[in-house]
Amino acid sequence: MKTEILRMLRETDAYVSGQQLCDHFGVSRTAVWKVINKLKEEGYEIEAISNKGYCLKRVPDLVTKEACLSAHTKWAGRKIVYGQEMDSTNTKAKQLAEEVDSHGLLVVTDKQNAGKGRRGRSWESLPGSSIFMTLVVKPNIVPANASMLTLVAALSVSEGIDMVTKLRTRIKWPNDILVGTKKVCGILTEMSADMDQVNYVAIGMGINTGVTTFPEEIAYKATSLALECGKEILRAELIAAIMECFERNYEIFLNTEDLSQLMDKYGARLVNQGQKVKVLEPNREYMGVSEGINERGELLVRDENNRLKVVMSGEVSVRGIYGYV
Ligand code: BTN
Repeated sequence: MKTEILRMLRETDAYVSGQQLCDHFGVSRTAVWKVINKLKEEGYEIEAISNKGYCLKRVPDLVTKEACLSAHTKWAGRKIVYGQEMDSTNTKAKQLAEEVDSHGLLVVTDKQNAGKGRRGRSWESLPGSSIFMTLVVKPNIVPANASMLTLVAALSVSEGIDMVTKLRTRIKWPNDILVGTKKVCGILTEMSADMDQVNYVAIGMGINTGVTTFPEEIAYKATSLALECGKEILRAELIAAIMECFERNYEIFLNTEDLSQLMDKYGARLVNQGQKVKVLEPNREYMGVSEGINERGELLVRDENNRLKVVMSGEVSVRGIYGYV
């Protein structure tokens, strides 16, 4: 009932009458009043005026289950597991993904104690607000086709951020989201699969929303949304926008033979497009010019001998010649 009352209050600027809520839920006025008080304790500013009802005046920046359930989606993020602190939302999501009914499950926390980054690195929880979340999907595809999903996630995060902040984010292949030349989001995708079938994919997203200072070693290449757009970001609103974008893009990915629509949208945001890049493979590195992605989400790089190389994510890192981008 709390989630539903919050949703009703959020969806209007007007007053929602106490009687209307009682009738809707078939409960007493006291029961409604208790829920309103609980919401107030959590930081929601709710004005109560007799004969008019309740009106939501200010929403706190929470990522609790109730706060995050405002997405208009069919399945993405409709089930939420929230914990104030966790080791890693990816680790938690992978445990829960083993359960049958976990497609679309979203695990969210305020703080990670053992956050994981790509290539075995860690992902720190810095002071200030951030989004740490992992979405579980169970596509009926072969493992070889799953790498595109990480790009679908990057595209969706980039679109969601732009919708909410009015910034114009770009993507550093495969899945770093940048504002200008600095990173605001990293994505870690983990998969469980048999030889011929994906069991689940856990897509972990770490977004710097309200972080204001970064450790010296990353300050030149990291930023936050609040720093870039000069206003507070309501994380739940951003999460909802990302879920909506993801659901739409995922359905295009699964249901269309022709991925050109996704590739075009991704390509338009790709910072590496037409850029000189350095490809760092485990045992060698070479220079080339990036020519965008193929249908499998791999990066096409024309090397110095004019040969077109297909670069897979994973062990390979791509750098701009002047540094991180
Ligand atoms: C990167 O190295 O750029 C990827 C970082 C991914 C971090 C996110 S935060 C939520 C999820 N849980 C994790 O432990 N990692 C991902």
